[in-house]
Amino acid sequence: MGSTASTSRTARQRPRLAARDPGRVQSLETREGGSSKDWKAAKRVVVRPAAAADLRELLRLDEALIAEDRRHDPTIDPAWTRSAGGRRFFRDRATGREGIGWVAEAGDHLAGYLVGCVGPAEDYRRVQKVAEIECLYVEPRWRGAGIGARLVRRFERWARRQGAERMRVVVSAGNVRAIRFYQRGGYRLHDVVLEKPRRGRSDRAQ
Ligand SMILES: CC(C)(COP(=O)(O)OP(=O)(O)OC[C@H]1O[C@@H](n2cnc3c(N)ncnc32)[C@H](O)[C@@H]1OP(=O)(O)O)[C@@H](O)C(=O)NCCC(=O)NCCS
Repeated sequence: MGSTASTSRTARQRPRLAARDPGRVQSLETREGGSSKDWKAAKRVVVRPAAAADLRELLRLDEALIAEDRRHDPTIDPAWTRSAGGRRFFRDRATGREGIGWVAEAGDHLAGYLVGCVGPAEDYRRVQKVAEIECLYVEPRWRGAGIGARLVRRFERWARRQGAERMRVVVSAGNVRAIRFYQRGGYRLHDVVLEKPRRGRSDRAQ
């Protein structure tokens, strides 16, 4: 598995929150003894590479992610996941044709997933390859038990093997809990993107 990939989904996303210093990017700590009542059950959750057979579950989880994300960014299109482009995006990640996917399997369903890729850095930078977490989601009942950190750690390990010098993730500015989660893993604010709707147009109407 593995490839260099364009950051296709990022094109429809927003600010970039990347590690400031690749030497200081650490793996996220697994928070053993975390607060979740599901901690014991979460230990039995298996984190493994995604496969084509996971596509249905990946689409379900991505819809849940978008439903939550829209609270921070109402311009995100909830129909994107099941569009032709969305399905292609997830099929490519699940099969490793472009980028990669990891899933957290909890018995008969998936408790979470991460998809990402490694691609060329902007040509004005003194960095060749950047890895990007494109989507990360853990179902609410499984949160706080280290599954998110495990998914990120697996991705970072893969990305390093692909030669990535930096890790990046784009998060809605209002998603302070996710920002805190990444900061605990060594990620630091890097670029900040500011936007406004055209005059007379409300984001809520989109
Ligand atoms: C961010 C997320 C993937 C973390 O997964 P997780 O399995 O709960 O992560 P871990 O157990 O390894 O770490 C838990 C920490 O994540 C943070 N966190 C971030 N968002 C959270 C949320 N919505 N609910 C609970 N904890 C959250 C908490 O600060 C928690 O720290 P705490 O134990 O000190 O409270 C998960 O909360 C989630 O799916 N959130 C919604 C989607 C999202 O925001 N994705 C990231 C944007 S790309």
